[in-house]
Amino acid sequence: MRIPLIAGNWKMNMNHESGKDLVKKISDKVGGSDPEVVVCCPFPMLLEIGKCLSDSAIMLGAQNMHWENSGAFTGEISADMLLELGVKYVIIGHSERRQIFSETNHMINLKVKKALEKQIVPILCIGELLNEREGKQTERVLTDQLENSLANINTQEATKIVIAYEPVWAIGTGKTATPEQAADTIGFIRGWLKEKYGESSSEKIRILYGGSVKPDNISEIMKSPDVDGALVGGASLIDEDFINIVHFKH
Ligand code: G3P
Repeated sequence: MRIPLIAGNWKMNMNHESGKDLVKKISDKVGGSDPEVVVCCPFPMLLEIGKCLSDSAIMLGAQNMHWENSGAFTGEISADMLLELGVKYVIIGHSERRQIFSETNHMINLKVKKALEKQIVPILCIGELLNEREGKQTERVLTDQLENSLANINTQEATKIVIAYEPVWAIGTGKTATPEQAADTIGFIRGWLKEKYGESSSEKIRILYGGSVKPDNISEIMKSPDVDGALVGGASLIDEDFINIVHFKH
């Protein structure tokens, strides 16, 4: 039985005041039988946002981390630094990191391994570009991302990872994958995990959908039994929208 997860990715948005205001409004409305909820805010806000969330059911997440423990890596943040701030989840390999900051599957693999070692749950992002989908390359691209990002990760470790399928053409564009596209592609990812880690372990791994998730499309997206939740960008910045996504109707 997989626990659904709704994770908000604020990206490089908000400030201390607007961020605190947002999480206060959200945390008042989240709890009980709701899905697990994570808020991934920018690094400088982690401490304050973490304090605001200390009595709530919402967990704190980061948007990136480095794979080394410490050293001469100017501008980077280690897993231990995130742990000190109470971070429980970390987004790894977001398409914006892959595209704008040239992160490779190898770097992403190192980060996933370090997060697992430090017991921070990695939310590993994978997804194809528009021309790859149109060229019927989606499965090949996802296979390559999965094989290389999950290299040398054993079955026990794999069950602790969350995978976020985010078709790059659906991110921030208002173009959501249809529920069928999301279900088929996430079904393909589940199949790949089954081949690699076996049926019972693959059934434990949560797979999220991300890309223009809004209150009015979340229920359809969540209908597929393989879809375990959502990684939400723009709509996670608006309290009412994020709350309505968390409270999606089954
Ligand atoms: O990580 C979430 C994301 O990339 C989707 O963003 O704005 O399309 O919901 P958005």
